[in-house]
Amino acid sequence: MRGRRLKIAGVGIAIAGAVLAILLAIAHRPAIASIERPDPRSFDPAVVARGANLARIGNCVSCHQAEGGRPYAGGYPVTTPFGTIYGSNITPDPDTGIGHWSRAAFARAMREGIGRNGRHLYPAFPYTHYAGVTDGDVDALYAFLMTRPAVRATPPDNDLIPPLGFRPLLAGWKLLFFQPAPIRVDPSQSAEWNRGRYLGETLAHCSACHSPRGLLQQEQRGAEAYAGGWSGGWYAPPINARSPAVRTWTPQRLETYFRTGLSRDHAAAAGPMGPVTYNLARADPADVRALARYYAWWMRNAPAAKVDPPLPDRRALAERQHPAGARLYEGACATCHEPGAPMVVAGRPVLPLGTPLHEDNPRDTIQIILQGLRPPVQASGPYMPAYADALTDRQIAEIVGYLKVRHGSGSAWDDLEKEVAKAREEGR
Ligand code: HEC
Ligand code: HEC
Ligand code: HEC
Repeated sequence: MRGRRLKIAGVGIAIAGAVLAILLAIAHRPAIASIERPDPRSFDPAVVARGANLARIGNCVSCHQAEGGRPYAGGYPVTTPFGTIYGSNITPDPDTGIGHWSRAAFARAMREGIGRNGRHLYPAFPYTHYAGVTDGDVDALYAFLMTRPAVRATPPDNDLIPPLGFRPLLAGWKLLFFQPAPIRVDPSQSAEWNRGRYLGETLAHCSACHSPRGLLQQEQRGAEAYAGGWSGGWYAPPINARSPAVRTWTPQRLETYFRTGLSRDHAAAAGPMGPVTYNLARADPADVRALARYYAWWMRNAPAAKVDPPLPDRRALAERQHPAGARLYEGACATCHEPGAPMVVAGRPVLPLGTPLHEDNPRDTIQIILQGLRPPVQASGPYMPAYADALTDRQIAEIVGYLKVRHGSGSAWDDLEKEVAKAREEGR
């Protein structure tokens, strides 16, 4: 009996070993030889400038700069349901950054998600999108990064649930979910639309936040593309035919929103959308216009595109259902948000124009109240105080309940107090 069990255990171990060996063989990628750090003066300034524009559209700095850290020096925590992955140092520092990386090593990282030494990279780095970037644009990004100041900085170790720290597993993930295909020109659309599609689907990786994800964090495509997703504890609403916006997102309005972080017919870009618009504000205006054209096309069949519905104001009903919320709103919010408030008179959108109150979940409304709106350093933009420390979960739930009844649309939101607690936990 015992001998047989040992034999079975032995066969089991042998099979497990063979599977592991096959996995490691599939996963294996060679290192690419290191080079001397290229002389920054060897790069054509025109190419560097093009790279700077592409880096803004690609939002690279958002994930590659820690709070209080230097640009591109890494250390920013990207949170996933499986733990935290830190953006790498992508300055040309030879020891802690990518100073020793050749152009070929950089291109392989961008297109295949493989580091210079052959390790597989987590798709928290959106290489599933960058795979479609053209050779010329990869070169320009390389020239841009290699001419940044080198910063010596090592990001913290990733903090992932076991066994996900074992990178060869990523080869399996890639087999299942990573089928890069070039972005082909659609001759039935304008050059501007095609430019917008190229930038939006590759560098700008808009669907990384705005599309739902599956169990293993793979993006849902097809009919689910741009149907709403989650990012850093916020909800990135649908930007396809299911957009819940109450005013049409025309190309002009989208362009203004991208370039200023505010649409007077909608609201301000809050949470993770703030840095996206901050970077687009400094990108090539023609590229931003192309993105606006392409995403307005995605939302061309949204309900608001057919009819601009009237703005609801069910004040009396909301006061009856949420008396505590009404009082809190009067005290804390009305000075800025009530029609007739100086901010509104000056042309800021009224609350019912904002998409958050029309979404099918309360997350964005809650996060805006918890975190407020802070323009990025040295940028002017809409400001709203953060109430995370000033109001309790219950008080915020009351205000949100009041606002949903007064100005919102769509299905009711339940369990608001629990939702506030969850938003606090998942938001940064
Ligand atoms: C959504 C967040 C995010 C964005 C946006 C992003 N990155 Fe990253 N990047 C990461 C993370 C996280 C890693 C580390 C992945 C890992 O450890 O497996 C990484 C790794 C890298 C690496 C590999 C570095 C190494 O040492 O292995 C390169 C190169 C890189 N990014 C370049 C870029 C460029 C260029 C852009 C803009 C076009 C960009 N990234 C935008 C999150 C991001
Ligand atoms: C890092 C995640 C992230 C990325 C990348 C991102 N978004 Fe967003 N986006 C969000 C979130 C979160 C919101 C909701 C914020 C709010 O309510 O202000 C949002 C809001 C929006 C809105 C406003 C929708 C409405 O009806 O109010 C539009 C339009 C939009 N994003 C388009 C884009 C486009 C186009 C891109 C690519 C150029 C993009 N986003 C990239 C996270 C992201
Ligand atoms: C100092 C002025 C100020 C105060 C006080 C203030 N807000 Fe705001 N709020 C803003 C600004 C500015 C925006 C950005 C959009 C805009 O410009 O209209 C905003 C945006 C919002 C949005 C998202 C945009 C939308 O239209 O859906 C919500 C929701 C919101 N505020 C709720 C509140 C609530 C609830 C309170 C009280 C707890 C509050 N605000 C207090 C200034 C303020």
